[in-house]
Amino acid sequence: MSDFLLERPRRLRRSAALRSMLSENHVSPNDLIAPLFVIDGKQQKVEIKSMPGQFRFSQDLLIEECKQLFSLGIKSVALFPAIEAKFKTPQALEAINPEGLYQQSIRSIKESLPDMLVMTDVALDPYNSDGHDGLVDSNTGEILNDETLELLCQMAVVQAQAGADIIGPSDMMDGRVGAIRDSLDSEGFANTAIMSYTAKYASAFYGPFRDALDSAPKAGDKKTYQMDPANIREAHREARLDLSEGADFLMVKPGLAYLDVISHLSQNFDLPIAAYNVSGEYAMVKAAAANGWIDGQKVMEEILVSFKRAGADVILTYFAKEFAQGYIKR
Ligand code: PBG
Repeated sequence: MSDFLLERPRRLRRSAALRSMLSENHVSPNDLIAPLFVIDGKQQKVEIKSMPGQFRFSQDLLIEECKQLFSLGIKSVALFPAIEAKFKTPQALEAINPEGLYQQSIRSIKESLPDMLVMTDVALDPYNSDGHDGLVDSNTGEILNDETLELLCQMAVVQAQAGADIIGPSDMMDGRVGAIRDSLDSEGFANTAIMSYTAKYASAFYGPFRDALDSAPKAGDKKTYQMDPANIREAHREARLDLSEGADFLMVKPGLAYLDVISHLSQNFDLPIAAYNVSGEYAMVKAAAANGWIDGQKVMEEILVSFKRAGADVILTYFAKEFAQGYIKR
C-alpha cells in the first residue's frame, strides 16, 4: 500500500529544522507599521478600553513610545490624532493648522528620531464635528467630494512640511490621490510618498478606533464613500485609479476579512501592497485571549503571516510592538 505513495508531504514536516527551512512566508518587524494615537497634554497615557494595550499618548510620552518601538526594530509609525471637541467644526479647519497637535507631533518625532518613518492620515473625521471624512452639505447631508479635495490637499502639504515621510489618504474621496500628488509636487515635496487607502471598506471592524478618537459619524454612515464589503472588482477599479494618479503603495483595509482582495491586488499590480490589520481585528483577539479561549500570541502570529501569504508587503498593526518583543526573544 505504502509503495503507491510517491509523494509524502509529511516527510518535510518531520522536524522543526525542516519546517523552518521550508517556511514560505515570514513576518519581520521591518514589515510592520505601528498605528499610534496622540492627545493634547503632558504625561498622559490613556488606555483605550476596547483596545487593551493601546493608548492615547500625549506628545512627550509619544516620543518615548516611538523610541521604544525603534529600538525593537519598528521603524515606522502611523499617527492618528484624538482632537478635543472644542477644535471640531463643520469646516474641519484644525486639520490644516500648521501648529496643531498633529503637525507638532510629526515634527517632534522627526526631531528626536529622524530615521523613524512617519506616516500620516489624510481624512477630516478627527476634526469634523459631523464625524465624516469629507465636508458635509448642511442641507442635504451629502458628503461633498470636490469641495473636500482642496482641504485634503492642504492637509497633505502641512503634514509634509512638518516632516511626514508617507501621506496616507484614508478618506475615499474620488480623485484625492492625484490631487494630493499635484499639490505635494508643486510645493516641493516630490519625494514624499503616498500610501493610498485604496480598497477601504465600510466596515464594522473600525468600531474600537472610532472609540479611541471619538470620531464616529454623528449622522448616517460612510457607505457613500467607503466600499461595499461584497465587492472585489471595485477594489481593482480603485487600484487602477490610484496607480494612474501616482500612488506609491496600495492598501487594503480591513485586512483579515479581505485577504482575497490583498491577494488580488498583489497579483495584478506591481506597487507595494499594504494590509491594515484594524482595531476590531485586534480587539477580537485580545478579548478572546483575555477569556482564555485562544492563545493570543500564537493567533497574532498566525494572522500576521496570513497577510504576508496573501501578498502584503507591509502590515499596519496594533500588534507591532508585541510582535517585535516576541521576535527579539526568539
Ligand atoms: C478614518 C480612519 C478610520 C480608520 C483609519 N482611518 C476609521 C473610519 O474610516 O471610520 C480605522 C482604523 C482602525 O479601525 O484600526 N479616516
